[in-house]
Amino acid sequence: MTAQIIDGKAIAAAIQAELTEEVQRLKDTHGVVPGLATVLVGENPASVTYVKMKRKRSAEVGIRSFGYELPADASQEEVEGLVRELNANPEVHGILVQLPLPRHLNEEAVLAAISIEKDVDGFHPINIGRLAMKGREPLFVPCTPAGVIELLDRTGVEIEGKEAVVLGRSNIVGLPVSMLLLHRNATVTICHSRTRDLPAVTRRADILVAAVGRPRMVKGDWVKPGAVVIDVGVNRVEDPTAKRGYRLVGDVDFEEVKEVASAITPVPGGVGPMTIAMLLTNTVRSAKRAAGL
Ligand SMILES: NC(=O)c1ccc[n+]([C@@H]2O[C@H](COP(=O)([O-])OP(=O)(O)OC[C@H]3O[C@@H](n4cnc5c(N)ncnc54)[C@H](OP(=O)(O)O)[C@@H]3O)[C@@H](O)[C@H]2O)c1
Repeated sequence: MTAQIIDGKAIAAAIQAELTEEVQRLKDTHGVVPGLATVLVGENPASVTYVKMKRKRSAEVGIRSFGYELPADASQEEVEGLVRELNANPEVHGILVQLPLPRHLNEEAVLAAISIEKDVDGFHPINIGRLAMKGREPLFVPCTPAGVIELLDRTGVEIEGKEAVVLGRSNIVGLPVSMLLLHRNATVTICHSRTRDLPAVTRRADILVAAVGRPRMVKGDWVKPGAVVIDVGVNRVEDPTAKRGYRLVGDVDFEEVKEVASAITPVPGGVGPMTIAMLLTNTVRSAKRAAGL
């Protein structure tokens, strides 16, 4: 059996097209223009690229983007002061502080300073706390985990009652994905670096989400035949034939696993494009909520 390839690029493009229409409608009918502020501290090349991409995609759907750049040695008070200013700005519906922050800054305090109504990245402790509780709804869900669930939904994968195994327990991916799957009534097992006999655990999964940051770790015989496999990993591996000398691979051995799974996301082109799509979705949702719509 060869698995269905879940095309994250196409799904993200469809979401972007839907949002473009919705933003136009919001403007025409209610005079509301969603606004997203990005805060970049320092010049970490990956962060610079991510922020550029987020601003470009925002503009494409008609979201007004406000870009703020602070020097790498910006003080805690400067960063939090900017966040407070943006909290008070009614044209800004979403505030995205690009992580990681330079080491001297207290990331938790910066994230906590963001108004939960504008926390489009979903990392405010109150939003995470609500995500962790039964029967509570966060205002926003972190974007990459939300993208994983959206991929499953738009591929028609039923989650309720399924055995889901999540590899990884990070605050950014593994843990929130696990909580989202639990909210959707999957039976969830979370694995990490101290889990014993990983392959035996992953073989139980109807839905397997890999977010470990280890190139091609999940092999064909780690996967139950017919499972749905979502690969969040993005890892550089050397490749002398590639222009840059490396290429990107996931945490899943795609060639092996596609012969066992019923559906699988590729890397790149799977989960990756969904993160920004969900950020834009959260920003539009926030603008609607602020306008009472
Ligand atoms: N938009 C996107 O596509 C997107 C967004 C975010 C991240 N990512 C990618 O997703 C991957 C994970 O990111 P992250 O931020 O969650 O990474 P992370 O913070 O490094 O967390 C990795 C997790 O995997 C576990 N782990 C590491 N090695 C393991 C092993 N050999 N066996 C079992 N578990 C192991 C760790 O366990 P412990 O907790 O025990 O240390 C940890 O929970 C990375 O490749 C990253 O680039 C992609």
